[in-house]
Amino acid sequence: MGMLRNIVFILFVLRWTRKLFYQLKGRGITGSVVDVYTSIRRTLYGIFLQLPGVRTKVQTQIAESILKLERKLVPSGPGVERITALPVEGWSEGDVRKKLDELAQMEHTRWEDGRVSGAVYHGGDELMRLQTEAFGKFTVANPIHPDVFPGVRKMEAEVVAMVLSLFNAPEEACGVTTSGGTESILMACLSARNKAYQERGVTEPEMILPETAHTAFRKACEYFKIKLHLVACKAPAYKVDLRAVSRLINPNTVLLVGSAPNFPHGIIDDISGLSRLAHKKRLPLHVDCCLGSFIIPMLPKAGFESEPFDFKLKGVTSISCDTHKYGFAPKGNSTVLYRSDAYRKYQYFISPDWSGGVYASPSIAGSRPGALIAGCWASLVKQGQNGYIDACHKIVGSMKKIETAIREKPELSSDLKVVGRPLVSVVAFLSPSLDIYDIADGMNAKGWHLNALQSPPAIHIAVTLPIVAVADQLIADLVEVVEGVKEDERKRMAEGKGAKGAVKGDTAALYGVAGSLPNKSVVVDLAKGFLDTLYKV
Ligand SMILES: *Cc1c(COP(=O)(O)O)cnc(C)c1O
Ligand SMILES: *[C@@H]1O[C@H](CO)[C@@H](O)[C@H](O)[C@H]1NC(C)=O
Ligand SMILES: *[C@@H]1O[C@H](CO)[C@@H](O)[C@H](O)[C@H]1NC(C)=O
Repeated sequence: MGMLRNIVFILFVLRWTRKLFYQLKGRGITGSVVDVYTSIRRTLYGIFLQLPGVRTKVQTQIAESILKLERKLVPSGPGVERITALPVEGWSEGDVRKKLDELAQMEHTRWEDGRVSGAVYHGGDELMRLQTEAFGKFTVANPIHPDVFPGVRKMEAEVVAMVLSLFNAPEEACGVTTSGGTESILMACLSARNKAYQERGVTEPEMILPETAHTAFRKACEYFKIKLHLVACKAPAYKVDLRAVSRLINPNTVLLVGSAPNFPHGIIDDISGLSRLAHKKRLPLHVDCCLGSFIIPMLPKAGFESEPFDFKLKGVTSISCDTHKYGFAPKGNSTVLYRSDAYRKYQYFISPDWSGGVYASPSIAGSRPGALIAGCWASLVKQGQNGYIDACHKIVGSMKKIETAIREKPELSSDLKVVGRPLVSVVAFLSPSLDIYDIADGMNAKGWHLNALQSPPAIHIAVTLPIVAVADQLIADLVEVVEGVKEDERKRMAEGKGAKGAVKGDTAALYGVAGSLPNKSVVVDLAKGFLDTLYKV
C-alpha cells in the first residue's frame, strides 16, 4: 500500500517537473515571471470588479451601453412592423417581394460606394447576376446525395482542384470545401490534433500561434481543448518571432501556424523559416491564406513583390484559402488543402454503426447547400487566371497607393505610421502622436467603415474592388480627418483641458477603456450583450 502511494507520488512529481521544465524552456524565467504577474493582476482586478459597490456600477454602465447599441441596431417605434410568429396565412408573392426590397434597402454603411473595409470583396453586377443564376439552377441540391446531384459533386471536386493548382500543390495533395475560413481553420486544427493523438499518443495537445493569427485558431483551441501558446509579432517587421516558436515546441505540440498574410496588419509571416522549423521537428505547419486567397498567389504574375508561402516549401502541410474573399465567390465558401491524404483523413467523420445507416461527412456540416457550390464554381471559372491577375493588379495597386500616401504625404506622415511592410491587400497604420481611434471615428463620421485594431492601437483598410474606385477620396478624407483631430487637440490644450476633456466617439470610447483593463471581463459582457442584441426582433 505504502509503495503504491510512493509510486503515485513520484509520478505526480515527475508530471509537474516536466510541465515546469517545458514552461521554463518555452517562456524563459523572465517570460514565466511576466505570465504569473499578468495572471495575478487579472485575478485581482476580477476580484475588484466583484466588490459590492463596483459591481453594481459596472453592471449599470454595461447595461446602458448595450441599450445604446440596441437603439442603433434594432429599429423600434410605432411605425415598425415586427414578425414574431409565422403568419397564419402565407403572404402573397408580391408582398414577400416588396418586403424583401425594403429589407435590402434599410439604411446602411454604403458598401456599394466602396465605404467599407473588407466585407464585400467584389460587388460587380455582372458576377452577381451570374451567381444568382447559378443559385437558381441548384436551389434544392445537396452534395450529401452525390447520386441525386452529380453536377454538384463534380463542381465541388473541381473547385478544390482549381484552388490546389494555385498553391503549387504536389501530385498527392487534396482538400475539402467548407462554409468559410473559420471552418477551414477548425478542420486543419482538428486534423492536426487527431493525427498527433493517433500517431503519437498526444493526449494534452498544444498549438503555437502568432498573436496576429486569425482568432478562428483560438476558437479551435476552445472547441477542441488544445492548449494555446501565443507568440509575439514585434515591431518593426510584425512577423512571428521564430526563436520564440522554436522554444515553445515540446512533445505535446501538434501544430505550428503562420499567416500569409494576417488579418490585422496584412503582414506575411516568415513562412520559409516556419517551414524549416516544422520540417526539422517533424510537425505539421498550417498556413492561413484565408485573406490572401486569390491575391497572394497572383502577386508575381501581376508584377508585385512576393514571399514564399505555399506547398513549394516542404514543411507546409495544410493551407486554408477562402474562395469567398478574393475568390469573389458568394459568402459561405472556403477550402482547406492538405499536402496529402495522410493529413486530410483525420478531419473526416465516419459513423459505421448508426441506426440511420452508415454515415460519413467530410467536415462540420451534414446537409450542405449545393447552390453555394454552383455559385462558387461559376465565379472561379468566370474570373479565370486573367480575371484574378487583373483584380490583384487593381487591389494591391490601391493598397500601395494608400500606403505611399501615408508614408509620403506630409499631412499624413507626420502623425501616422504604417505597420510593417504590407505586400498584399491590407494596410494598417497607427499614430504615435494622436488617438488613432479618434481618427477611426472621424472617418466613420464621413461614412467610411474602417477596422479598429488593438495591441497596438491601430486601424486597417482591407482594399476590395469597390474601394479601388474611391481610393483617392479615401486618402483625401483621411487627410481632412487627421487635420481635424489635430485641431481639436490644439483647442483642448489651449483651454487647458488635456486629453481628459475630450468627448469620445464610439470606437475611441470602447477601445480606450478596453485597452487599459487588466481583466477584460467587462468587454466580454459587452460583447455578449452585442450578440444577444443581434437576435432581438
Ligand atoms: C477572414 C479571415 C479568416 C476567417 O474567415 P471567415 O470566412 O470569416 O470565417 C481567417 N483568416 C484570415 C487571415 C482572415 O482574414
Ligand atoms: C476576470 O474577472 C472576472 C470577474 O469580474 C472573473 O470571473 C474572471 O475569472 C477574471 N479572469 C481572470 C483571468 O482572472
Ligand atoms: C460552399 O459552402 C457550402 C456550405 O455553406 C459547402 O457545403 C460547400 O462545400 C462549399 N462549396 C465550395 C465549392 O466551396
